[in-house]
Amino acid sequence: MKFFLDTANLDELQAGAAMGIVDGVTTNPSLVAKEGKDFKTLVGQICEIIPGPVSAEVVSTDCEGMVKEARELVKIADNIIIKLPTIPEGVKALKICVEEGMKVNCTLIFQPLQALIVAKAGATYCSPFLGRLDDIGHDGMGLIEEIRLIYDNYGFKTEILAASLRHPLHVVQAAKAGADIGTMPFKVFGQMLNHPLTDIGLERFLADFKKLQS
Ligand code: E4P
Repeated sequence: MKFFLDTANLDELQAGAAMGIVDGVTTNPSLVAKEGKDFKTLVGQICEIIPGPVSAEVVSTDCEGMVKEARELVKIADNIIIKLPTIPEGVKALKICVEEGMKVNCTLIFQPLQALIVAKAGATYCSPFLGRLDDIGHDGMGLIEEIRLIYDNYGFKTEILAASLRHPLHVVQAAKAGADIGTMPFKVFGQMLNHPLTDIGLERFLADFKKLQS
């Protein structure tokens, strides 16, 4: 499973990069707005810190506007992935972007047919939002399982990018359900290695070894 960071914060991205296990980045208009910086400059800086795929989202809601934005965004760096909303205009834009050689991440996916459609239209990634489904009492993880089954049935190469992950258990469950990628906030990324028994065990090992020295 690949790990992406779901953040536009440069400090978090630098800290994540230092761990050596960050494969890519997802951003969205809300995450970018939190940083209060020029969008394209910020995305360019992110692409330098993390050499893997970096999703940058359009804010137009019509096909023409989305494609126009996408053509500008891909100029920022070679590792830019265009993020399009999974709405009818977004699917039209997806076809055009794919024909022009862009890689596209289709976002805001909440049901399996949206995932099937974007795979048929050539998306590189599909992003089901697990946490937001869980928030309204639906089965976010069940959606990943359904998409995995459908993609495997037809041999689609579109990668399942499990998004809106809220805690480490989401990452475990998404990995078990066959998601290709998990994108997570920096907080969750930091929690993934934690276990109190690891800390207690290490403390004991060091204390015992210290006795040997004295
Ligand atoms: C993914 O591409 C999205 O940016 C993200 O995972 C949304 O997460 P949220 O539901 O916690 O805002």
